[in-house]
Formats: sequence, structure tokens, C-alpha cells
Amino acid sequence: MLSFLFILGVLTIDLNICNGEYYAITRNPNLLDRWASAEIELVSKLKISSENISSMAVVTRYIQDFDDAFQTLNDYNETAPHRESSSAVTSNPVAVYRMIRRLAYQFPDLRTQVKPLDEGLFYRLHDNVRLETKDVQDTIAGILRILHVYNFPPSSFAEGNFGGVETGTKLKGIHCYEIGREALRLEFYTLSIEWLEVALVKARNDSSIDPGLAKSLLDVAILKHDEKLDSRGYYDPYYYNQKLVPILHYPNYTATRVKQRDVLEYYYSRVNDTSTWYLNLKFTAICSRNSIQTAEEKSHLFCWYESKADLYWLIGPLKMEFLAKDPDIVQIYEIIGERQTEDLKKTVEENLRQSSVVDSSPGAAPGAQMVSNIRTSVNGWITEYSHPTLYTVSKTMEKITGLKVIGKTASDAMQVATYSFGGHYEAHLDALIVKGFGEESAGERIATFLYYLEEPQLGGQTAFTEGRKWVANKWIRYFDQFSNRRCGLQPVERYRIPANNDCIP
Ligand SMILES: *[C@@H]1O[C@H](CO)[C@@H](O)[C@H](O)[C@H]1NC(C)=O
Ligand SMILES: *[C@@H]1O[C@H](CO)[C@@H](O)[C@H](O)[C@H]1NC(C)=O
Ligand SMILES: *[C@@H]1O[C@H](CO)[C@@H](O)[C@H](O)[C@H]1NC(C)=O
Ligand SMILES: *[C@@H]1O[C@H](CO)[C@@H](O)[C@H](O)[C@H]1NC(C)=O
Ligand SMILES: *[C@@H]1O[C@H](CO)[C@@H](O)[C@H](O)[C@H]1NC(C)=O
Repeated sequence: MLSFLFILGVLTIDLNICNGEYYAITRNPNLLDRWASAEIELVSKLKISSENISSMAVVTRYIQDFDDAFQTLNDYNETAPHRESSSAVTSNPVAVYRMIRRLAYQFPDLRTQVKPLDEGLFYRLHDNVRLETKDVQDTIAGILRILHVYNFPPSSFAEGNFGGVETGTKLKGIHCYEIGREALRLEFYTLSIEWLEVALVKARNDSSIDPGLAKSLLDVAILKHDEKLDSRGYYDPYYYNQKLVPILHYPNYTATRVKQRDVLEYYYSRVNDTSTWYLNLKFTAICSRNSIQTAEEKSHLFCWYESKADLYWLIGPLKMEFLAKDPDIVQIYEIIGERQTEDLKKTVEENLRQSSVVDSSPGAAPGAQMVSNIRTSVNGWITEYSHPTLYTVSKTMEKITGLKVIGKTASDAMQVATYSFGGHYEAHLDALIVKGFGEESAGERIATFLYYLEEPQLGGQTAFTEGRKWVANKWIRYFDQFSNRRCGLQPVERYRIPANNDCIP
């Protein structure tokens, strides 16, 4: 049987949020857009409202926080149309956190005290979806995920520096405190301690948080870390590699402590083990170091112009590049146009749903789906028969892979998904392994074809720090390929990408 393991997606931190049904509205990029543009409109109305309104404490407080968060935000333009400025907000994790926080904690008061400026506007911001503490927690979880996956230090992140990119938005002491407190609740000790340290430094300078409060929670976090470190039976990337209390008073405590994730990644990135625990460690290693391939492995990778996969490519060859071998991963450049990508996005945009994963819990029906914290995108499905653009796109896929893609059992419908900031999909296999999804009639998934329809400014291969990512993918099935490709002689064989068809029998 051909087998093509294609691991895509992302490691994330397992945030210990309950299993099973988990729905976070803040994951929906369309809703984020709507809130952001409605809030910008609201604030611009508040700013020009009558003296009675604009002098109310609840209003000035709201406007102050809004201006503090956005005035220096890159690409944010107060005089541009609201819809345009909103994308500056929704593509920045700190700006989103501050917006969701205002809408959850400050907006209800504003709503009660300020008599309607504009009912429709209030409705868009509040009455159809009420944001609550859990939504603020969800955006914090996104921030923690980004910091963990990319190993960014909270101290520079709080200053709006994401991995060397200045984004122009900052956090105040109170925000750092809240993030540290939430990390502590999630038992994510390394990040909790680092955030509370930043909060403490900021508290000495800004009045948003009392330094005594920050210090006492920091002490709790350090003590809990040390206490739990002992009771852990295995290495866990949310801890330091030693107790902190004994080193707290060293001349340079910060330099002395070492995160367990750094130690683990270093030792385990080369271990040949596919258990989830190792896979997750390798994913963090890939995200924070770009690659864990050895020089020997890299020496087998190359780029080429593919002209023989199909006569069609004779004049305009494909630009291809091996990213990895065994299993083969190739990147193909410039195969989908702007008109087609916009078309695919638009087709699913109105029907986006929270993505689900196969439910493999004991007792689940075959092929049953569940919403889970493993995967935070929203997605929609398109078939060749319902959509002419996809028909063309799938035809091209056939000419590239030499595999049958169009046909009821040849491949799954195209999945179009979008991830907003901090979105992720944990390390996973696309192969079904469990029965379901017509596995009996269509066969196993042997290859994944993944299109990048829109890439964020930062991140995106795996976890996403800034901006929004759109992908579309096709899973190609086994049984329909019998007429296109000869079976191998080995019972277990991988589908290999031939360079200029050299290895096609
Ligand atoms: C503004 O305040 C004045 C005096 O307190 C009051 O008469 C008036 O009705 C208020 N206007 C609004 C729009 O609330
Ligand atoms: C802000 O938007 C306005 C209106 O679209 C435009 O005229 C102006 O040049 C923009 N400013 C910047 C700094 O982009
Ligand atoms: C404290 O605030 C002052 C003035 O606002 C600023 O110049 C300084 O950089 C701040 N220090 C820290 C540690 O943030
Ligand atoms: C502590 O260590 C950090 C990181 O190595 C270094 O940047 C800093 O200067 C050190 N501070 C002192 C007081 O030695
Ligand atoms: C790693 O695993 C693969 C497949 O499971 C196996 O073929 C290979 O020999 C292993 N390599 C090492 C160094 O153990």
C-alpha cells in the first residue's frame, strides 16, 4: 500500500482546557473584524459626542484605553475608513486582546450609562454576542501559545516586539499581571513567572497595577512551580529544569534558570519516536529554530523546474522544491492565482464553522467529529461539482501529482480553513488510521495537497503570531489510484515525488 505521511500543522501547548466541547467565538476572524470596525466607529462617535457624554468617566476611561492600545499600532489609521483600520487591529494579538478585554470588562458599563448613540452600533458590539471573561482568557491562551511555540520572551512581547518585529502596540502592568495570572491558572509556570516579573517591573512605573499585588502573585507562582516540579513524573516543557527558590538570590537569577523546553528540545529533536510527546517537542524545536534537519538530510534537498510530470508543463514548468524527504514534502510555487484564491475564500466565507477533529474517544461512532482545543481554525468545504474554480484547481492538482483527484472516491472535498492570530493545529497525521470517512470505499489518505491562500506577516508555517492565514487542502485517497499508478512490490511503500518523472515506472 502507498503510504504518505504528511505531518502538517502545529504544535501547541496543551492548555489543560477541558476536553470535549469547547467553543471560542474569538477564533472566528469574521467576528473579530466586525467587532473591531464597530468599536472604531463607536469611539469616533464618542469622541465627537456632546460634552455631557464625552466628559463621563466611563467614556474617558474607554477612550483612553482605546487610544493607548491603538494610537501607535502599525497600519492603524484613525482617519481611514473603519473597515480598513480594523484589519490592523485583528492582525495583532496584543491589539485583539486589548479590544476583547475592553468589550468584556468596560463596554457593559458604557452601554448602561451612555444612552444610545446608535442602537445598531451597540447591537453589533454587544447584544448579539456578549463577550465575557472566558473570551479574554481565550485570547490570552492565544498569546501564551505564541510565546511558547516561538520561545519569545514576555519582556519584549509586552513592548510590542514580536520576534524582532516592532508592532507598535504595548501592554501595561495590569495586562502583564492578568496574563501571568491566567498562565498560573493553566499551570504554565515558566510563562506565568516571566509575565509576573514583567508586571512587577511595569508596576513600579505605571499605576495600572499595585506592585505589592504583582510581587505576591509572583511568589505564589514560584512556590507552586517548585512544589509541582517535585511531583511531576516526567519532564514537562512548562517548567524550569530546577527549583527556583534556591537560586532566587544568586547575583544573576535570570541567567541561571533554564527552561526545560530548551533542554528537552535539544536532546530529543533527533529521537526517532512518533509518540505525541516527542512529536510536540519536535514541533516546538522546528518553530523556534526553523529547522531540525541535519546537514546530511539537507544535502538531499533541491529545487527544480518540473516539466515532465505532464505535457501541460512542457512550456511553463512547475517551480518545485523539496522541503523534506521520506516522507516527501515539496513546495510548489505560483500555482494558484489571486482570482482563484479570492474565489475559494469567498465561497466558504459565509459558511465558516469551528473546525472539528475526528473523535477517537472510546465509544464514538465511526467518523464522528468533535470540536476540540487541538485545532482552532474555522473552515468550510467545497466540492468540484458545486464549484467551477475548484474543478480547474483540482485538474491542475492531477497534472502535478499524476494522481486521480476528481471523482467521488478519489479525494475528500476541498477544505478551506482560516486561522486567526495564535491559531493552531496540534501535531497530527492526516492519515485516518481510525475507520470512518468512507475509509472502506475510498481507501486511506495517501497524500495531502495544501494551498496557502493567504500568509500572515509572521509565522504561518505552523503557529501564527501575526495576521491571518488561509489554507485549502485536498486529501487524495488510495483506491482510485489503481488505474493511474502501478502498485509497488512491497506491501508498505511510500508515495514519492519524482523529479522530472525520473522514477515513475
Ligand atoms: C446634558 O446636560 C444637561 C444639563 O445637565 C441636560 O439638561 C441635558 O438634557 C443633557 N443632554 C443629554 C443629551 O443628555
Ligand atoms: C490615513 O487614511 C487617510 C484616508 O484614507 C489617508 O488620506 C491618509 O493618507 C492615511 N494616513 C496614513 C499615514 O496612511
Ligand atoms: C518609566 O516611565 C518613564 C516615563 O514615562 C519612561 O521614560 C521610562 O522608560 C519608564 N521605565 C520603565 C522601566 O518602563
Ligand atoms: C544577567 O544575565 C543576562 C543574560 O545573560 C545579561 O543580559 C545581564 O546583563 C546579566 N545581569 C547582570 C547584573 O549580570
Ligand atoms: C526510524 O524509524 C523509521 C521508521 O519507523 C525506521 O525505518 C528507521 O530505521 C528508524 N531509524 C533509526 C535511526 O532508528
